[in-house]
Amino acid sequence: METYHNIAVLPGDLNGITVTEAALKVVKAAEGKLIKPIKHTRFDYNADYFLKHDMKELGPKELDELKKYDQIFLGAIGDPTKIKPGILEVGILLKLRQAFDQYVNLRPVILPDGVPSVVVGKTSKDINFEICRENSEGFYVDAGWIEKKGTDEEAGYQIMKCTYKSVKKLAEFGFKRAVERKKSDKPVMHFVFKTNVLTYAAYPWQRVFEEYKNRDDVDARYMHIDNFLMQMLINPKQFDVVLTENMFGDIATDVGAVIQGGIGTAVSGNINPTGIFPSMFEPIHGTAPDKWYDSDGKYDASLVQQVKPEAAFLSYAMMLEQVGETKAAEAIKKAALANLRDYPQYKEKTLDQLTDAACVYVKNL
Ligand code: IPM
Ligand code: MN
Repeated sequence: METYHNIAVLPGDLNGITVTEAALKVVKAAEGKLIKPIKHTRFDYNADYFLKHDMKELGPKELDELKKYDQIFLGAIGDPTKIKPGILEVGILLKLRQAFDQYVNLRPVILPDGVPSVVVGKTSKDINFEICRENSEGFYVDAGWIEKKGTDEEAGYQIMKCTYKSVKKLAEFGFKRAVERKKSDKPVMHFVFKTNVLTYAAYPWQRVFEEYKNRDDVDARYMHIDNFLMQMLINPKQFDVVLTENMFGDIATDVGAVIQGGIGTAVSGNINPTGIFPSMFEPIHGTAPDKWYDSDGKYDASLVQQVKPEAAFLSYAMMLEQVGETKAAEAIKKAALANLRDYPQYKEKTLDQLTDAACVYVKNL
């Protein structure tokens, strides 16, 4: 057995670099609480790397390299000033999720105690569930075609691929989570899809749902995605573990981020539960605004200070949990939550102040 945790760090671009550096400072402050030390190896797979090597996606060289690590921590990728949006997302993020068969994207929607939600009247007692997003297929398989390009009859087709195997594996993971969470006596698992319209892709979802519905150790329920989004706002308390298709999960977890305190609080683990390949942990960043350049495209250090690093701290903590470093994970989690709870001052605090506060908190625990 290794004597240290071997972690690959991919800061990515812009805000990704900012929050990764902040997270690594907090991890350093938690060193004393680790069972085994952590070795971080940084890989700058980002816009500059793709430009320099004239690449469209990570190739066998990068994948073989990353494969050797226990886990991957990712900041955020994408710099529209260098590469047009879409290339790096597909070429790095989706590539890694698929190549390393990270078939679950675990995204907790948990409003910390004492943090206000944008949903009036909802507290941490109401908003406490986990979305398990299918992370390797659905609309994300990049399959489709364009017909009659350039004519008035032009038509784009996109294939949604859902397989029985993947949905079943996702459900197995979700069931384990629900048992661990112990939110209710019998785990409640929602299957969220759009069976009334996407009738073909719905087959495997329906089949796995029926299997769970016939079990007596779980309370399996089905909900359409449109209703689910409404219910997240109206009655989030009913949810414990929610399983859903890749794109539905992408959209729903941005809503989740907002109701749990903002995108800067949302955590995400791209997990390969078998451990054959590394899992990858990242703050949910899909909609994070760029805080590096001012309106004239100049780097602005004061803008950088507006970035909120808590989602990165919490994602790192999720990674530590996965490798059995409960004490350090708990300390970092508590430090991030202490920052978030400091309302309304939190909003005014700079990145450095929040990072320093988290480091001090962790050290004093
Ligand atoms: C996310 C992001 C990604 C996704 C993008 C950047 C490809 O929005 O992780 O939620 O759609 O999965
Ligand atoms: Mn997203």
